[in-house]
Amino acid sequence: MKKLRSISQTIEPQLVLEGAGVLLRRSIAPRASNEYDPFLLFDHFAFNNPLEGPLRGFPMHPHRGIETVTYMLDGSVSHRDSLGNAGIIGPGDVQWMTSGRGILHEEMPRRGESGNIYGFQLWVNLPAAQKMGQPRYQEVKSSTIPVIEKEGATIRIVAGEVNGIRGPVTEIAASPLYMDVNLAPASKFIYPIPSGHTALAYVFEGVGEFGEQAIESVSMVVFDDDGDQIEVKSESGVRFMLIAGAPFKEPIVPYGPFVMNTPEEIKQTLADLRNGTFIQ
Ligand code: FE2
Repeated sequence: MKKLRSISQTIEPQLVLEGAGVLLRRSIAPRASNEYDPFLLFDHFAFNNPLEGPLRGFPMHPHRGIETVTYMLDGSVSHRDSLGNAGIIGPGDVQWMTSGRGILHEEMPRRGESGNIYGFQLWVNLPAAQKMGQPRYQEVKSSTIPVIEKEGATIRIVAGEVNGIRGPVTEIAASPLYMDVNLAPASKFIYPIPSGHTALAYVFEGVGEFGEQAIESVSMVVFDDDGDQIEVKSESGVRFMLIAGAPFKEPIVPYGPFVMNTPEEIKQTLADLRNGTFIQ
């Protein structure tokens, strides 16, 4: 008999300014307490008024010790980096960037035809043994992301598995689950998540019952880690990002765009940036 997970916390995203003045909704941010291990940060960017002024982005900045996952629903992000990569993350596309020991990159949002920009960025921790590994990318075009229809749920699988169908992003240290779940009115979604794995749901459209609790968008739901199944029901329809993964249970020391395990490693990171030895 599967045990249903209850909700341990709901988080109302806070508006923050990042990069060159980009207004974001942030639900979780890196903290030494590492409550959502292995997940560090979740940002939701939504610019819905073409008249709101000049577009700002994220000029060249470094990362070390983490993975960043960008998922766009509308508009795009053009990016380039210190490895010589450049490209555009368009609607429905995903970019899974493993910073490893170091990368410098630029991320600039662009409006789509509708005038909107809408997307998410998730940061996933790397275990100590992989923090100084080689940087790499998994670029995933919208057309290669499997879409499953299951009892009223339309599920886009970025990483993880539903009914034996796997998302395209693999070989990620936290073996995470990352899915865009769109529940039609009067339907129910049940999904197994191993007990002890961190599980979050970012509700960004509609209203749903998560366990016993009605949750209205926009809100981050944190599931209790006791239980091996989650259940979401909706009368009027709901859409959410489902995020789950195994915690590393290692101490972390976050410092801006770097997340390492000790204060010495952060000092070394800053020294590498000063000395020009940050990227190899
Ligand atoms: Fe970045």
